[in-house]
Amino acid sequence: MTKEELANISLPRHIGIIMDGNGRWAKQRGLGRSEGHKAGAEVFRRICEYARDIGIEYLTFYAFSTENWKRPAEEVSAIMNLFRDYLDEAKEREEENNEKGMCVRYIGDRSVLPDDIRLMMNELEKRSDDKDVITINLAVNYGGRDEILHAVKAIAKRVEAGEIKADEINLKDIDGNLYTAGQPDPDLIIRPSGEYRLSNFLIWQAAYSEFWFSDILWPDFTSEHLDKAILDFAKRNRRFGGV
Ligand code: IPE
Ligand code: IPE
Ligand code: MG
Repeated sequence: MTKEELANISLPRHIGIIMDGNGRWAKQRGLGRSEGHKAGAEVFRRICEYARDIGIEYLTFYAFSTENWKRPAEEVSAIMNLFRDYLDEAKEREEENNEKGMCVRYIGDRSVLPDDIRLMMNELEKRSDDKDVITINLAVNYGGRDEILHAVKAIAKRVEAGEIKADEINLKDIDGNLYTAGQPDPDLIIRPSGEYRLSNFLIWQAAYSEFWFSDILWPDFTSEHLDKAILDFAKRNRRFGGV
């Protein structure tokens, strides 16, 4: 994006990205699906940097869904190893990432993830907690329905404990108990790979999101595609139910 373009549009504060199409990308090249995930992880790194440089404040990446456990064990374990690589690398690059003001968070149910990954995630979150240029949410074992269920249970416990009455539950209570509590809703959700669905991504938060779909497979996604999505977004007329 040129400086001029950047100066003349209103940027989305929060972008959600469904990183889809890794398997098809690998298949096209006669490679195993894991190779596609590896290539996809590289693109994830590049897009994080680029989004930060142009001034995006929140970026949420869908990396592994609550439904993705259905995949062959070999593929699941290859994806887990890519998380390990990313977490190791983030530790090595801590100083650089801190200087860039990158805060990393995980959204999803981490209780069932391998212990070492959970520990590394907790550490990285803690170490980057006070950075405020860009917040990167990585959705791992994330499902929108699971997230809402998790919020409902937390609120029900407060009712059970007599802290609030059922009639007093409001929308803020639900927002405040989501994994994304305190963050703005996604303004723009990007899904490459030619699928036109959310696949359980940010279903509560996406109530008024703008959508951008493309046939490009995630490992082929570049900063130019992000620019295109943002420029298209800037032309949309968001009414939020008003006139
Ligand atoms: C997205 O790519 C990555 C994950 C869901 C973990 P896919 O693996 O779903 O790629 P396709 O959709 O099979 O091409
Ligand atoms: C959505 O992609 C999940 C992630 C990108 C992590 P899927 O490939 O799992 O979605 P479906 O199965 O095509 O809906
Ligand atoms: Mg897919």
